[in-house]
Amino acid sequence: MLKNRCKAFFEYIAGARSQEIYPYFRPISRSWGTEVEVDGRRLVMVGSNDYLGLSHDPRVHEAAAAASRCLGTGPGGSRFLCGNTTLLEKLEERLAAFVGKKKAVVHVTGFSTNLGAIPCLLTPNDILLVDRESHASIFQGWKASQARLVTFSHNDAQGALKKLTAALPRQNSATILLITEGVFSMSGDIGALPDLMRLKDHYPNLSFYLDDAHGLGVLGPNGRGTAAHFGLTDRVDFIMGTFSKALASIGGFIAGDDTEALEYLRHHSTPLIFSAALPASNTATVLACLDILEREPERLHRLWEITRRVKRGYQEIGLIYSDAPSHIIPIHIGSEMKTVLFSKDLYDHGVFALPSIYPAVPKGKAVIRTAYMSTHQDSQVDHVLEVLANLAVKHRIRIGDQDMRKPGRKKENVPVFR
Ligand SMILES: Cc1ncc(COP(=O)(O)O)c(C=O)c1O
Repeated sequence: MLKNRCKAFFEYIAGARSQEIYPYFRPISRSWGTEVEVDGRRLVMVGSNDYLGLSHDPRVHEAAAAASRCLGTGPGGSRFLCGNTTLLEKLEERLAAFVGKKKAVVHVTGFSTNLGAIPCLLTPNDILLVDRESHASIFQGWKASQARLVTFSHNDAQGALKKLTAALPRQNSATILLITEGVFSMSGDIGALPDLMRLKDHYPNLSFYLDDAHGLGVLGPNGRGTAAHFGLTDRVDFIMGTFSKALASIGGFIAGDDTEALEYLRHHSTPLIFSAALPASNTATVLACLDILEREPERLHRLWEITRRVKRGYQEIGLIYSDAPSHIIPIHIGSEMKTVLFSKDLYDHGVFALPSIYPAVPKGKAVIRTAYMSTHQDSQVDHVLEVLANLAVKHRIRIGDQDMRKPGRKKENVPVFR
């Protein structure tokens, strides 16, 4: 019953709050990008997706304000009706050119892009083949499509081929949509694009859909994304991206060379038709960020410099961290309770980094997800490393500490915040 379910959950959250270990929904009262103010205290932010720190760039602020003055703060309706603007159409052209595709369609969030696009590309007779660790919005899009779901182990192209072969009778004309991510948001792993692309050789009906929420703006030349990073832009059929990470705004898009499919999608994606359009300020923000990305590659160089430095620092401390060659660096702890307590101690010592626990990551594989910005100062990074070094000893989370050798093996009976 709803009442019982909510009551139990409410009590559970209230218990965590009363022990002062509840880490989520922290109200930020002020942000300087790399630092934020919470409850009157200033903390160094190392969990944000504003990877290039463009949210606080004065040029971006000015572009957003000017667009608001010209077109208003709210969109006035869905794009289909009265919310479409020349600015949105300009953005679609710029995005398509930026990622190397013919056409792009903008939605009001990244989530709604997946939610709306996937059911347009699949029918209940088709197959969605997807990496198991993909984002929730992809699975919501699948549910809306009613297509058959075939999942494969994370980044396992061989496994994907086996699963697909078992699922599909020969000479089947079903469309197969293969979806994976450019950079996985929790592990920081880069999607196995070159290996997965080989599935196209076996299945001519297979379309490749890349969710590049975390790769766009960061990987590839000038941040053109993961497909460009691998030189595979022509072979990826659909590139989906969000504006809520490196592009300092909110919104999402899907781009491709199949202009007919994209025109169909523009008229059939339910979140696009039945939800309000992206406001002008958010649209102009993305355009300003694209200008900066194209002109200032040094921002990316700085992000990679900081990322390398942080990884060296984590290694010296003895932390167990993901060595994926990306800018997302999760610190592996395993135990959910231990991760929550560690995050709380970080918070008390002026570092804002949140725990990622089940269902965001597999059970028993909790992490502190850290991601730095190209605007972090060396002194801020030094401070964070110093705090981590001290607390890692206290919480016994270094390589060699008891419980830290076999991540995910130890069973825990602490259902934190599920
Ligand atoms: C891989 C992935 N896809 C889609 C989304 C949804 O994007 P948005 O938050 O912009 O709606 C996210 C957000 O975290 C994501 O990580």
